[in-house]
Amino acid sequence: MSLTLFVLLLSISLSSILGQSPTLILFAYAQELSDTQVNSVSARLEESAQLSWELGARAQAILELNATTYSVFSNTRLPPASNVPQELKQPLQIYFAIAQEILANIPSTSDGARALMSDGSAADPASNGITVLLANWTGLDNKNVDYEAAARNQLDFLFSDAVPRTQEGAISHRVDQLQLWSDFVYMVPPFFAYYGVLTGNRTLVREAYEKIRLYRQHLRDTRTGLWKHILLGTAGNDDGYWATGNGWAAAGMLRVHATIEHSEYADSFKKEKEDLGSWVSEIHDAVYKHIDSTSIFPNYIDRPLNVSGNFYDASSTALLAATVYRASTHLQQHAFIRHAEQSRETLFSLNPDAHIGDDNDAVSPFSGYRHFTPEGWLTPVVNPHSYGVEGSRSAEGQAFVVMLHAGYNEWKAAGRQGSAGGWSRFALRETVNGCGKSLLCLIAVIVLGFGQALYLSV
Ligand SMILES: *[C@@H]1O[C@H](CO)[C@@H](O)[C@H](O)[C@H]1NC(C)=O
Ligand SMILES: *[C@@H]1O[C@H](CO)[C@@H](O)[C@H](O)[C@H]1NC(C)=O
Ligand SMILES: *[C@@H]1O[C@H](CO)[C@@H](O)[C@H](O)[C@H]1NC(C)=O
Ligand SMILES: *[C@@H]1O[C@H](CO)[C@@H](O)[C@H](O)[C@H]1NC(C)=O
Repeated sequence: MSLTLFVLLLSISLSSILGQSPTLILFAYAQELSDTQVNSVSARLEESAQLSWELGARAQAILELNATTYSVFSNTRLPPASNVPQELKQPLQIYFAIAQEILANIPSTSDGARALMSDGSAADPASNGITVLLANWTGLDNKNVDYEAAARNQLDFLFSDAVPRTQEGAISHRVDQLQLWSDFVYMVPPFFAYYGVLTGNRTLVREAYEKIRLYRQHLRDTRTGLWKHILLGTAGNDDGYWATGNGWAAAGMLRVHATIEHSEYADSFKKEKEDLGSWVSEIHDAVYKHIDSTSIFPNYIDRPLNVSGNFYDASSTALLAATVYRASTHLQQHAFIRHAEQSRETLFSLNPDAHIGDDNDAVSPFSGYRHFTPEGWLTPVVNPHSYGVEGSRSAEGQAFVVMLHAGYNEWKAAGRQGSAGGWSRFALRETVNGCGKSLLCLIAVIVLGFGQALYLSV
């Protein structure tokens, strides 16, 4: 208890010194990840990311957290600097190591169209396309390795006859059959858009939008607004509203929007940007209708939890919340911030029965956390290699936590738009729980609550 009380008193004094709402400072203590915690999540991400799209998601997470000026969400004009600034050389080392490893495993870059990695998915390897493009752009390895050819081959592969497509031109997510997966929107269109912006190829930027438009036409259910997971194939379709798939779609659209927005095409793609923005909010509107009082999504959004194949999934919850913060800072859409805040506070909080002061940093940065194991694995999560089954370690889930943390921090820095600024019911309940049986602590909470109400009313 004593630490709780200390934090409460500290927040009162700090708030008077800083002229800030005490809640903000309390929040800062209770529901944000520390650097140590984010590094622990990042370490588990690095250990577990092996498959093509896991590396692609990890690459994006590294940019969003540690090299933000190279992330499309930063307010930097695209194309980015070709000379990597000194302070980013070290953070980008592990990022470019991904491109180096991928290239080391390609037998030859001189033989035309081919994917960056061999994979049953036509789309997933392309999630590493931007990493390889940036390796070329910044002159990695003194141009002794042909990153440009590798990126071009990946692009050509997607447009080649090796990959099936629908009559209107929607590229298949799979190589062996024509099949559309919601995941595609994260893997391919951001690569097309980035490629187009780097090479001044307007057609390619337009393709990024066009592929999303076609995918939405097939996968979005007009009644619920939710995206179905997998359609059109001869085997292995899944017409359920997979939560992670809805997150992939929203996150992919946000990246394409941001890429266009920061490029020379910002003015000439107004209608496309508008569509992308409204398609993102359409997903948020549809998914958050179904979230229950736990603020954690089930694996299949509209199915009861007692149905087989359904369970609470912290992984999609983190991704979707991350997209809400990005939509707020980037698209000025704030309607779902309250939901994202509740999900984030829940994901980043201690167990109700673990008092704040019980956390022992020396043992584990995550001891007593509700949604992390002591080693820093997000939990519970869908098995990332078998989407209808609960798993235990998810590389993509680890990446989503990093994206959530990064997206939240930028939203906070931009002035927390869309938040009432008040003490959420969640935070109040947690703090009262944290007080245990201490009367003094409860009194402090009441005083703080009144202080805050007063603060907000003036
Ligand atoms: C970000 O940088 C920190 C400090 O170097 C590092 O520990 C962490 O692993 C990096 N995060 C990611 C996602 O790579
Ligand atoms: C590769 O980098 C060079 C600059 O070094 C640039 O001129 C070229 O357009 C880049 N290629 C791609 C596909 O981005
Ligand atoms: C743009 O990219 C597409 C797809 O690779 C290609 O067919 C086309 O020739 C490119 N256009 C220009 C002007 O380079
Ligand atoms: C799931 O729960 C609902 C409502 O609690 C109940 O009506 C239904 O029979 C349950 N289904 C299964 C498969 O247990």
